[in-house]
Amino acid sequence: MAFKEGERLLLIDEKGKKFMITLGERSQLHTHGGVIELADIVGKEPGYKAITHKGLEFVVIYPNLMDYIEKMRKLPQTIQAKDSSQIIANTGLCHGMNVVEAGVGSGALTLLLCSIVEPGTVTSYEIREDFANLARKNIREYGCTNSVIKLQDIYEGIDEKDVDLVALDLPEPEKVTEHALGALRPGGHLFSFSPTIEQVIRLHDSLRYSDWMEVKTIECIVREYEKKRMGTRPKTLMVGHTGYMTFARKR
Ligand SMILES: C[S@@+](CC[C@H](N)C(=O)[O-])C[C@H]1O[C@@H](n2cnc3c(N)ncnc32)[C@H](O)[C@@H]1O
Repeated sequence: MAFKEGERLLLIDEKGKKFMITLGERSQLHTHGGVIELADIVGKEPGYKAITHKGLEFVVIYPNLMDYIEKMRKLPQTIQAKDSSQIIANTGLCHGMNVVEAGVGSGALTLLLCSIVEPGTVTSYEIREDFANLARKNIREYGCTNSVIKLQDIYEGIDEKDVDLVALDLPEPEKVTEHALGALRPGGHLFSFSPTIEQVIRLHDSLRYSDWMEVKTIECIVREYEKKRMGTRPKTLMVGHTGYMTFARKR
């Protein structure tokens, strides 16, 4: 499986710094540790060590989905993997299911959802054309073909029916509660990501007990550890807050 021109590759240094390139698009990669001649990578196998002119080593591999999402072009804030991965644990989302999502932003959550549900579909609502176009580009270049992005305001309604999940990452999720109820199958899930607790409270207030069950809000805090010669302990710096995740299930 030798590297060919046109292939997307990932270069990682010993500290985990990553660069994503498409082989053949440019001749050199300028890094913090010197320049790599990209022509040297053509014909090499995954695991090849590319060395900069200053002697820094980069391992060359094919990027996976999470590498791609990390390195793709982004405009608005994307949901972090620690948060979006909670969707699977709390909804049982799997292949063949159909999802409605809003807003699409740069398409980070869309890509994750597309790869989980394939051959099911992800229909995304977005009000900004520039974001919709960037997300389409990111998704097309990754190679997903089960995404449909509509330039449409989800506060006005949802066209789809019998969907398994409605996933929201927008400012006023409470405006989508009634539309989600009409779009979901019984037992289908609503997921909403919100940075502030006021948004969570407004969403909860909109979820009638007669229509929804298993309503809960969680936060995902990840603490990473580092092993050093002097001792192993939690890293000093960590991500303090990203957002709250609310789940509800249609009765
Ligand atoms: C934080 S971004 C979403 C990021 C995305 N989840 C990701 O991981 O890449 C919020 C998006 O919601 C869109 N949006 C806001 N209100 C909307 C509405 N009423 N209908 C559809 N999209 C909306 C914004 O334009 C923006 O792109």
